[in-house]
Amino acid sequence: MSEKINLIINGEEISVTEEKGDTALLSFLRDEMGLMGAKNGCGQGQCGTCTVIIDGEAKRSCLWKLKRINGSTVETIENLNKDGQLHPLQIAFLETGAVQCGFCTPGMIMSSKALLDKNNNPSEDEVRDALKRNICRCTGYQKIIESVQLAARYLREGVEIKENYTTDAFGKSVIRNDGLDKVQGASIYVDDYSKEDMLHGKLHLSEEPHAEIVDVDISEALQVTGVVEVLTADDIPGEKNFGLILDQQPILAYDRVRYVGEPIALILAESKEAAAKGSKVIKVEYKELPTYYKPQDALDEDAIEIHDDGNTLTHLQLRKGEYEEAFEEADVIVEDTYQTPFVEHAYLEPEGGLAEYNDGEITVWTPSQSSHKYQGMIAASLDLDEEEVRVINTCTGGAFGGREEPTVQIHAALGALVTERPVKIVLNRKESIRMSTKRHAAYLNYKMGATSDGKLVAAEAKIYTDTGAYASAGIPVANRATTFTFGPYVIPHAKVDTYSVYTNNLPGGAMRGFGSPQVCFAAERHLDKLAGELDIDPLEFRLKNALEEGKSTLTGHVLGAGIGFKDCLLELKESLAKEEYDLKDNQKIGIGIAGGYKNVGIGHGLPEDNQARIKLNKDGTFTLYVSCVDSGQGSDTAMAQVATEVLGCFYQDIEVIASDTDHISDGGVTTASRMSFLAGNAVKGCATKLKDKVLENASKVTGIPTERIELQGRDFINNVTGERIISLKEVANDYSGLKAKYDYHPPETEPIPEQNIPAYPTKDDDIGKIHFSYCYAVHAAIVAVDKETGEFEVLKIIAAHDVGKAINPKGVEGQIEGGVSMGVGYALSEEFYLKDGWPVQDTLSKLNLPNTANIPPIESIIIEEEHPEGPYGAKGMSELPVSPVAPAITNAIYDAIGLNINQIPIKDKLITK
Ligand code: FES
Repeated sequence: MSEKINLIINGEEISVTEEKGDTALLSFLRDEMGLMGAKNGCGQGQCGTCTVIIDGEAKRSCLWKLKRINGSTVETIENLNKDGQLHPLQIAFLETGAVQCGFCTPGMIMSSKALLDKNNNPSEDEVRDALKRNICRCTGYQKIIESVQLAARYLREGVEIKENYTTDAFGKSVIRNDGLDKVQGASIYVDDYSKEDMLHGKLHLSEEPHAEIVDVDISEALQVTGVVEVLTADDIPGEKNFGLILDQQPILAYDRVRYVGEPIALILAESKEAAAKGSKVIKVEYKELPTYYKPQDALDEDAIEIHDDGNTLTHLQLRKGEYEEAFEEADVIVEDTYQTPFVEHAYLEPEGGLAEYNDGEITVWTPSQSSHKYQGMIAASLDLDEEEVRVINTCTGGAFGGREEPTVQIHAALGALVTERPVKIVLNRKESIRMSTKRHAAYLNYKMGATSDGKLVAAEAKIYTDTGAYASAGIPVANRATTFTFGPYVIPHAKVDTYSVYTNNLPGGAMRGFGSPQVCFAAERHLDKLAGELDIDPLEFRLKNALEEGKSTLTGHVLGAGIGFKDCLLELKESLAKEEYDLKDNQKIGIGIAGGYKNVGIGHGLPEDNQARIKLNKDGTFTLYVSCVDSGQGSDTAMAQVATEVLGCFYQDIEVIASDTDHISDGGVTTASRMSFLAGNAVKGCATKLKDKVLENASKVTGIPTERIELQGRDFINNVTGERIISLKEVANDYSGLKAKYDYHPPETEPIPEQNIPAYPTKDDDIGKIHFSYCYAVHAAIVAVDKETGEFEVLKIIAAHDVGKAINPKGVEGQIEGGVSMGVGYALSEEFYLKDGWPVQDTLSKLNLPNTANIPPIESIIIEEEHPEGPYGAKGMSELPVSPVAPAITNAIYDAIGLNINQIPIKDKLITK
């Protein structure tokens, strides 16, 4: 008789046979106990999302086999509020805004609990140390650290749950409406779903960076026990290629592979293990082709064509003023080259999809940035009508641009169609890194000239972006890089050439900043060199040249109201003046400034709109349908806040359904910092229409004129006497089903002008309005550099952002802190490079993502320069916080010791602390 392994899990005695001894605790909790709070972010003990408490210590449950913990006591997130009361940590995480996508949250809370169980008054350093193995890609850690200290105070002093029902939610830091589920580990991500009779899918990926496919032999894989089906490109009934802009990328490669992560075959099996075994025995015969890993090499005249139309995906040209002669007006000219790396999104939830085929219809559950975009691609490849494909967005563990296009979702749908069984595919971390798109690496040459009084006169740039094996977002990324080449400054004469070039690297795709972080680094570094040559303070130099109302952008757009760039500079200046520094021997302080601006909306003349619907339910609540995916940024809450501002109800009484193709119209991809503006206006529009109907019906019931009635929370009041008239529920009882719809169209835009842009355009020129709105920022980095050793530390980042009206200030801060954290990684430590086409950083730990131990304090300054057409003045802002960080840090080092850093990450150029 076999021995038993005994455990106490959340107070319950559990016995399993020793045959299960090699099962990882994480798998046991999730697959056998149905405890889904612990997440699988990497399966290698590197992300902390699976953290539980074993015998009083925070442990990563993916690393612990059951046989190693025989006799142990295990506590998971599900145990924290078993008695119906939230744990102080859960309350504090909600109150401080420490939750965004929520995928890291259960692990964070369990690591924090293990700390607080032993020490109910930890210092900031102790909190940072206790959490340093828990990665969060969204929050920048600041609010997490704050919440642990707040929870410690609650533990010491007690806590009362504060009533947070309010009709005054707009513009306030209310608790996000998905927060409660997330702090309890109750949110359902795609890997938490399962279906009866479900198959597991695995993709066999290319082993070659560039080769012709001579033969694919699946026969051995079909013999593996548990393997049900193996599919290749021949099994795809419809379009064999997909793509964000060009339908170019094979769903399963059929004639050629162009990078090492390309899927070639799909293995469908009864278990994950069988699918993996099947994948291992697929035999692909390749005929190797020459490989190119740098755009400049791929453009060599001897290079073979990676795609039939050549190796240049796009070449964009911008010409403004007298760009040839204007440099003669300059007293100082600086020319230099810069280089920025590929960046992995590293959202903590790996890519996944679950598909089911029923009565001729396919349903796909998946995290994404646009259910409709996925729906279209799935339908095309399966040769179905779009109405026959439903895509439901699941709770999304971060996106940052990386979920704009499918990875495994078309494959899961194909598997379900062919086998008529549900199919789930979830990538492991290695596959995720190998398959998914990256921020484009860039090579940039800049030349800028200014007069001795500090006025910029002319600028020239040549930019190469590496779009890797496929187009993905390469064209719009090049567009954005061109539009924002020199930052938020007035430059009368300019010439820009931007090339997006195919190579045999992984595809460059959409990532937070979308072409801006690369040019922001080059431009803002370059400005400091110019300021140095001119002996002008870098902040004053920027003030002299800053964009403002009535001035024109690089593309000739004469800006209207709502431009807060100068305010950002001035507020930052004030904040810096208050800073005090405590330096060690040999340390020299350096302060670096960098500005940036970024589009709100896709612009470039492309059609974009957004629709929202809202209805009143019988119980007096509202359901809001809006095309806008919340991948952690908090848009569901923001949309409810906009609606409540119109209606006067509690924001908690508005259920937001944001991305299900059966219920929502296509409002475009959640990208380009566009949803606060577009979806916000759509929500405002439909809520305004519904409000009229609701008041009309309240008037019918009560006989009081509509102009006298106002909704306040759940009751109508007489707005003259202040008396309660009737409850919303009573009115809803008679008139439930009232609904309204609104389709918002933003102001028109246009592509980058092909003709020469005037040096000093006026509004009458009506040229170059690439975007209808922009957000602005200025960051300061304060660094201390040891003059002898070169060791340096970033003491603080101050980030001033003009976001228009801040719908939820804490949410805005969370976006700033999270973006700054990504920017710190971009500047200092995050590496992603390829050797012979293979990712060298193929695990989360090798990526060197920032953690609690090395992220500096971040001070956010919110400037609310309202946009006249934004919903109550809101603009958008989620991407911009990334961009100015790297130039601010490198400028600070330049300020401290005069060292010019033109390539990031800094990593090996100085000793980072
Ligand atoms: Fe931490 Fe998203 S909230 S990873």
